[in-house]
Amino acid sequence: MNKDLNDTSEHIEVSVDELDDADIQHVNNPIVGLKPIVKEFLGSVKEVRQENNKFIFTDGAASVEVRVVSDEIIRVRMAPHSVFLDDFSYAVPLLDQKVAVFNFKDEKTYYSVSTNTVTCRINKENFLISFVDNDNNITNEDYLAMHWEENAKFGGYYVYCTKKSDPDESYFGLGDKPTDLNLRGKRLQNWNSDTYSFAKHQDPLYRSIPFFISLKEGNAHGIFLDNTFKTHFDFAQEDPTKLSFWADGGELQYYYIHGPKMMDVVKRYNSITGTHQLPPIWALGYHQCRWSYYPESKVKDLAYQFRSRKIPCDALYLDIDYMDGYRCFTWNKKYFPNPKKMIKELSDDGFKTVVIIDPGIKVDDNYWVFKEGKENKYFCRRSDDYFMEGHVWPGRCQFPDFTNPEVRTWWGGLFKELVEVGVAGVWNDMNEPAVFGSGTFPDDVRHQFDGHRGSHRKAHNVYGMQMVRATYDGLKKIQKNKRPFTITRAGYSGVQRYSCVWTGDNVASWEHLKIGSLQMQRLSMSGLPFAGTDIGGFSGEPTGELFTRWIQLGVFSPFMRAHSAGDTAEREPWSFGKELEDINRKFIELRYKLLPYIYSAFWEHHRYGFPILRPIVMLEQENADNKFREDEFTFGDKILVCPILDEGATSRNVYMPKGNWYDYWTHEMYEGGQEHLIQAPLDSMPIFVKAGSVIPEYPVMQHTNEIEIDELKFQIYYSDCEVNSFQFEDHGDTFGYEQDIYLERKFIVNGDKKSMTIKKSVEGLFNPRYETYDLKFIGLPFKPSKIIIDGVDFKGEIFFDNLKRVRINVSKYFKYIQILK
Ligand code: GLC
Repeated sequence: MNKDLNDTSEHIEVSVDELDDADIQHVNNPIVGLKPIVKEFLGSVKEVRQENNKFIFTDGAASVEVRVVSDEIIRVRMAPHSVFLDDFSYAVPLLDQKVAVFNFKDEKTYYSVSTNTVTCRINKENFLISFVDNDNNITNEDYLAMHWEENAKFGGYYVYCTKKSDPDESYFGLGDKPTDLNLRGKRLQNWNSDTYSFAKHQDPLYRSIPFFISLKEGNAHGIFLDNTFKTHFDFAQEDPTKLSFWADGGELQYYYIHGPKMMDVVKRYNSITGTHQLPPIWALGYHQCRWSYYPESKVKDLAYQFRSRKIPCDALYLDIDYMDGYRCFTWNKKYFPNPKKMIKELSDDGFKTVVIIDPGIKVDDNYWVFKEGKENKYFCRRSDDYFMEGHVWPGRCQFPDFTNPEVRTWWGGLFKELVEVGVAGVWNDMNEPAVFGSGTFPDDVRHQFDGHRGSHRKAHNVYGMQMVRATYDGLKKIQKNKRPFTITRAGYSGVQRYSCVWTGDNVASWEHLKIGSLQMQRLSMSGLPFAGTDIGGFSGEPTGELFTRWIQLGVFSPFMRAHSAGDTAEREPWSFGKELEDINRKFIELRYKLLPYIYSAFWEHHRYGFPILRPIVMLEQENADNKFREDEFTFGDKILVCPILDEGATSRNVYMPKGNWYDYWTHEMYEGGQEHLIQAPLDSMPIFVKAGSVIPEYPVMQHTNEIEIDELKFQIYYSDCEVNSFQFEDHGDTFGYEQDIYLERKFIVNGDKKSMTIKKSVEGLFNPRYETYDLKFIGLPFKPSKIIIDGVDFKGEIFFDNLKRVRINVSKYFKYIQILK
């Protein structure tokens, strides 16, 4: 039906064949007669009123609330009949932040709400909303007034927002989409789906992260559509001049997040949705998984193989076969007669044990978990009050309603025995939720939604997040001050507060190696930094070469776990012959050497909200070419990672951002701002360190608990301009850092042709046991004649090698070092 888009007078009412009261936005909406469904648009602004940091505008029928969340974040909500939904969000626990000052103005043609960095303008005549920076540039602008359409089937509304899109505007983010990094020209949706062996461009996958970053003429801002229903994003696909996002129900509620730096947009998104807790340091080691390692003798042999072959490893996983008939929280006593003893032995050998727990609870009146859930009415029910039943691994199952806080507390308590047996981490799977045959729950399943009841249409995308939240909170309570380790497949924005994620059932192919690299970068810039892929590919068989290239990428995956399906050949780092075993060992050892650097990047994320993997476009967003660079990234801000992603390739072109970069292996220096051809035979991988960096290094260890460090190594790379670095350290597995029991060392490196200086300062109360540092200076353009430490001539030995590297041992308390020609 054609409708004049500016004509907002028409209000058409539609019939419903099923009314779901919990999804309806306003109780008085009359539903009569069968009429065509028509989109309704906001009209002109008639009135405005202020309630503290909220400004409510109305066209007489519909209302829009503009809320100042922080100096850089403004939230917009729309209520078609002026009755806003409960202001409740699983994603945003920190709605009101510190706002220095905000202002409201009534101008001739528009109203404005501004902070000291951004202004939201609401056009009086047509209700179009725009955001403007301090230089009066429009950063984001409605193309159409916000609009809606009644949902004839369920009640409630489809809600829409359409913004202008510039021809050169790019879009990034949206979580785990297995597609090009730049989303311009794509239409995507969010509906958590179990997608075994997914294909490139397949959509949707396992997670719903309705947050994206726009980049226009070098300036960025973000939009977070906080709506848990199925959501849709059209990134100028249908019409190159328009960007649209909409939801199949719920409220049109989005956050405008000001930039202009992409890094700041992600940081600000994490400031409202939360950051990761610091993971236990063992979680950053190498993890080995398979569906499934059993019986006990197999698991022990696996452990033995790692230690005897001297391949570092911190965690072994038990997939579903450890359970009795796939009943969660039970053990198959035939395979694992004494789990406590086995786990203790593994632990004595430095292995943590992680077990899988799925949401499907077997219908079995002799099974205590089912009985407790049934008696307490903890399982999800359909609209006719019958329990939601579906088949998963255990056969006929019912499913806890994790959106009910009481159910979450119960679920969290169920982990007590597993923790007592010694289990160190929990892997939540199948929580989209996945059901054999139908895919997931029917739409009419009811959820408590923390008191804001709704159907599965509203709860589907948060089900997995609430499951892993229950798991995380339960473990945290049981383990007291120890950091929980959880991993989840499904999630919604904010899931990073509770868990790390893996990208699900990928495939052992070169294409999937590339997809994995993209997904990790995209997850990182979508606020989920602790992510990894199934190294080697879940289904299918990798060649040895592919597995090794995947291990190399894995070193720089925030979460490094090899995993494979049950019907595949053996898939351990030694499964492809001696030569590849040696290369795989070398790279897993590299992961352990870099652990203090990797751990520091996690701290930076936790404390400041910065992503861990940073695509090149985030580093140099003003360079338009970078919008399409997607096969390299930095880990933290100091290490440039350029994985080899093509079969048979032994070299690749590497683009280095501006500044100087050192080859990690050879220490050769390259000038950035251009591409270089880098050789990378199978036993190598192009990795570069930014000039001026101070990179901490551990000795090679077989697991994170093996060695008490007696001297910390630092590699210090010469730079002719000032560069800041930091390193974080603490106990590695407690929440002591919340009470300042940590140490953050900050370094400033600088140099000229005749000298190099390093300044150090510290923050925090943690005091490591070791007393000295082993400092290696790389890339000095001169042979040093003198080193002065805190004003005193250094008398110790100065090692100077033929690669012009200088090495000294110094007290950890030094504050200032000068190296002179
Ligand atoms: C799902 C998971 C996979 C796991 C398997 C058996 O396919 O994605 O990782 O191994 O279930 O539990």
